[in-house]
Order: sequence, then C-alpha cells, then structure tokens
Amino acid sequence: MQGLRALVSLGLLVGGARLGARANFCASPQGVTGGGGAPCREYRAGGGAMAGGLKYLSQEEAQAVDEELFNEYKFSVDQLMELAGLSCATAIAKAYPVSSFTSSLPSVLVVCGPGNNGGDGLVCARHLKLFGYEPAIHYPKQPNKTLFENLTTQCRKMDIPFLPEFPHEAKVIDGAYNLVIDAIFGFSFKGAVREPFGNILSTLKHITVPIASVDIPSGWDVEKGNPDGIQPDMLISLTAPKQSARHFTGRYHYLGGRFVPVALQEKYKLNLPSYPETDCVLKL
Ligand SMILES: NC(=O)c1ccc[n+]([C@@H]2O[C@H](COP(=O)([O-])OP(=O)(O)OC[C@H]3O[C@@H](n4cnc5c(N)ncnc54)[C@H](OP(=O)(O)O)[C@@H]3O)[C@@H](O)[C@H]2O)c1
Repeated sequence: MQGLRALVSLGLLVGGARLGARANFCASPQGVTGGGGAPCREYRAGGGAMAGGLKYLSQEEAQAVDEELFNEYKFSVDQLMELAGLSCATAIAKAYPVSSFTSSLPSVLVVCGPGNNGGDGLVCARHLKLFGYEPAIHYPKQPNKTLFENLTTQCRKMDIPFLPEFPHEAKVIDGAYNLVIDAIFGFSFKGAVREPFGNILSTLKHITVPIASVDIPSGWDVEKGNPDGIQPDMLISLTAPKQSARHFTGRYHYLGGRFVPVALQEKYKLNLPSYPETDCVLKL
C-alpha cells in the first residue's frame, strides 16, 4: 500500500493493482465499502426525529449566516475553519473508525478545492493524521493567501504528502486508498464545473471506496443536488444542512460546526438539534 501510494504521489502509476489493506466493511446501497465497524446502520432519508424540524438552508441563507458570523459576530475564518475541519475528522473517525480497517494505517485521499471548503479539507487531513489515519492531499488550485499557505505548511510539516497529479484512473484510487474526502466545493459553488475539477469529479464518480463530502457533495447544485454527480457515502453538513442534503442517499449524514451562537440560530430559525454532551458532531 505504502509503495503504491508513493508511486501515485510521484505521478508514476498508470495502472492500479488492488491491494489488500481494505476496511472490513458492510456493503452500502451503492455497493461501496465503508461503515462504522459494527453492523451497518441504516441512513434514514430526512433524518429521523432530530432532523424533523431542522432547517435546510438555501445558498443565499448559507452565505448570509456565513457573513453574519464573520461581520457581526467577529469570528475569524481560521477559527471557524479549525472547528469545521475538526468536526469533519471527528465524524469520519466515528463512521469509519481506524479499528474497522484491515490496514493499521488507513489511507485517505483528501481532495481540496480553491475556497474555504478546501481549507476545511486541509484542517480535516491534519486531524485525521493525529487520529491515526494516513492522509494524502491533492490540492490543485492553491490560493495565494496566508491562511491557506499556513494550513499547507502545517500539513507538510506533519508529513502529509501533497500529490502533484490526480490519479485519473478510478482503480488506482481504489487500490491505493481506503477512503476519499471530497473538500472541493461548498456552498459557494455555482454553474458548470471548471477544470481541473471536472476531470477529478468524473474519476470520483467511478471509484468504489467510500467518499465523504464536506458540507456539500462537490458538483451538486447547493439547492437541487445532482443525480448525475458523485454519490457520497457520507455527508458532513456544517452549521446546518443545505437544501441539496435532502437528495443525499448515502449512509452517514452528520452535522458539525458547533459554533453558531443561539441568537443567530434563532434569527435564521435553524432549529438545530442538541449535540450530545460536549460532542462537536451529531449523526442525523
Ligand atoms: N460560516 C460557515 O458556516 C463556515 C465555517 C467554516 C467553513 N465553512 C466552509 O466554507 C465553505 C464555503 O466556502 P467558500 O465561500 O470559500 O466557497 P467554496 O464553496 O469553498 O468555493 C469557492 C471556490 O470554488 C470555486 N468555484 C465555484 N464554482 C465553481 C465551478 N463551477 N467550477 C470551478 N470552481 C468553482 C470558486 O472559484 P473562483 O474563485 O474561480 O470563482 C471559489 O474559489 C462551506 O461550504 C464550508 O465548507 C463555512
């Protein structure tokens, strides 16, 4: 596995041998692997009692909440990104615990986009490394901003490799990784997907290892979803689910980003469920 990933990171691998280190998982509705160790837990679309009154945000509402957190409540992007990324890593560790993999160091490919969703992915990768996973990052469009440069440096200094090339054969990804984190686009995604992300998403549509999407499955319309797009096994909705989450059919839907002040929750009638004790994530 390690040798294969080294080749992938050097962009040298053109064909993929499926290697053995694979999670000992139950089958999902899409036939992909994944899932929390013990018996399969069924995902209930719409989410059960907790999610009953939970608000699903439009794109405009998601952006308004975001702006208010920064402009009125004076949070910094770094602060919220750290909490969001930690939520993602925590939810992933609950759904796909290290102990459920046959490999002692489960390998995770984290694909990061050019905005804050990509920043969440970088933070998530760093925490996953500390949780005992072996992440590798593909970050093809790195913004020229201190925040993202610092997050990138932190990952590099924690020996998380950055893949210069994306492995464009689905079987290469299936052979080298146990899990893929989609942190490409979040709630600001609009229009037709531009390259290089179009090719990346086309490949991800054909992989069989599970995909965990951060906030919104990339390539999905924030409100309407995308039946022809990637179909992740896991979705981690941050702050509150967006309307497209109603079209999510994977097994694990988590809520994360436990940082919204009560007054803001009330203003936008988010009707967030109570997180258990001090947990930063909640399974919907
Ligand atoms: N306040 C919160 O609740 C909160 C807190 C922490 C983290 N977050 C995270 O931040 C995310 C939102 O971040 P964001 O506003 O920076 O946006 P984003 O959803 O991460 O995406 C913005 C980037 O995507 C690119 N993009 C948009 N549409 C595209 C398309 N059709 N093809 C190719 N590229 C496209 C844009 O590229 P161009 O620059 O080329 O247009 C832009 O760089 C959330 O989803 C969440 O993950 C939110």
